[in-house]
Amino acid sequence: MSDLNRQVWLVSRPTAWPSEENFRVVESAMPEPAEGQMLIQLLYTSVDPYLRGRMRERASYIDPIPINSVMQASSVGRVVDSRNANFALGDYVGGMLGWQEYAVAGEREVRKLDPKLAPISTALGILGMPGLTAYFGLTEILHAKAGETLLISGAAGAVGSVAGQIGKLLGMRVVGIAGGEAKIRWLVDELKFDAAYDYKTESDHRARIAALCPGGVDCYFDNVGGEISDAAMLNINQQARIAVCGQISQYNYERPEMGPRLLFQLIVKRARMEGFLVFDFIKKYPEALKRMSEWYRAGKLVNRETVVEGLENTPKAFIGMLRGENTGKMIVRIAAG
Ligand SMILES: NC(=O)c1ccc[n+]([C@@H]2O[C@H](COP(=O)([O-])OP(=O)(O)OC[C@H]3O[C@@H](n4cnc5c(N)ncnc54)[C@H](OP(=O)(O)O)[C@@H]3O)[C@@H](O)[C@H]2O)c1
Repeated sequence: MSDLNRQVWLVSRPTAWPSEENFRVVESAMPEPAEGQMLIQLLYTSVDPYLRGRMRERASYIDPIPINSVMQASSVGRVVDSRNANFALGDYVGGMLGWQEYAVAGEREVRKLDPKLAPISTALGILGMPGLTAYFGLTEILHAKAGETLLISGAAGAVGSVAGQIGKLLGMRVVGIAGGEAKIRWLVDELKFDAAYDYKTESDHRARIAALCPGGVDCYFDNVGGEISDAAMLNINQQARIAVCGQISQYNYERPEMGPRLLFQLIVKRARMEGFLVFDFIKKYPEALKRMSEWYRAGKLVNRETVVEGLENTPKAFIGMLRGENTGKMIVRIAAG
């Protein structure tokens, strides 16, 4: 094992779209575990939209990542040195371990992963934070009911693709919106969405949503915001619920777009719109993960990952994810498992 650790640092704050110049690969000394800690060789790391918010100077619901420090992100890996009796060499763990080759952590900072139950990379996606976001968005915010119509924007990504599949498992009619014909085919042919359309080739979202949701929209799972969400609002039913999960269409604007003011729709339709963070449901993670894992092992949830090779390509993967280069969850393989 080398005595150097490679890390990806944030070295400047992006304005508008991030670029690879905002990051640098840095070699630092191999960290040493203190008593109670372990040294973890990271195998996969995650690129997630919320990291764009963490690159800004100002805090939102989570602090900014300091300049000239390792990018903080979820990663999974294998214990290669342990000074904690509860973790043995070869155990697999996941946690906020960063964009780097090795990390030290104590037992409160990681959860153990069982590679016999699911590939460990799923802890970054379908059986991790994005999958849980889909689950709680549907169960706790949308109060999904069989027979209702669920519309999902960002439908072919990590959260959206799981949300749609859970919607189908709960007996809903599911309609997705995503970018590009290949994603639309995947949603309909493999994930069994009832319908989907490519927003990149559509100029009249309101009419297209109306055509694909002839009975109106009962639940809208919003991952993107902007004009797609404006059009969704104009198609909601009485007592509709809108889960505001993400607004990715706005993340690279220095000032958010000003859209039409459609909140009157909430009055007319006696509808409810609620923003949420997956962390709000932390106490319910175990029961949710149990249910999600059962579905996964029964073959009822399709897992798809877009895997980029090499730690040094993590910034490229992050920017690619913002541009829609992923289908399902975008992850980076740092080392062979
Ligand atoms: N509230 C929470 O706790 C929570 C937790 C996790 C994620 N989120 C949010 O959920 C959303 C999805 O996250 P994710 O991890 O699943 O990411 P993802 O969907 O796997 O990846 C991002 C996707 O966004 C789409 N996109 C980019 N720019 C867009 C635009 N202008 N209009 C429409 N779509 C655009 C791209 O797909 P296309 O090819 O379809 O454009 C891209 O693949 C994000 O907004 C994220 O911030 C919220």
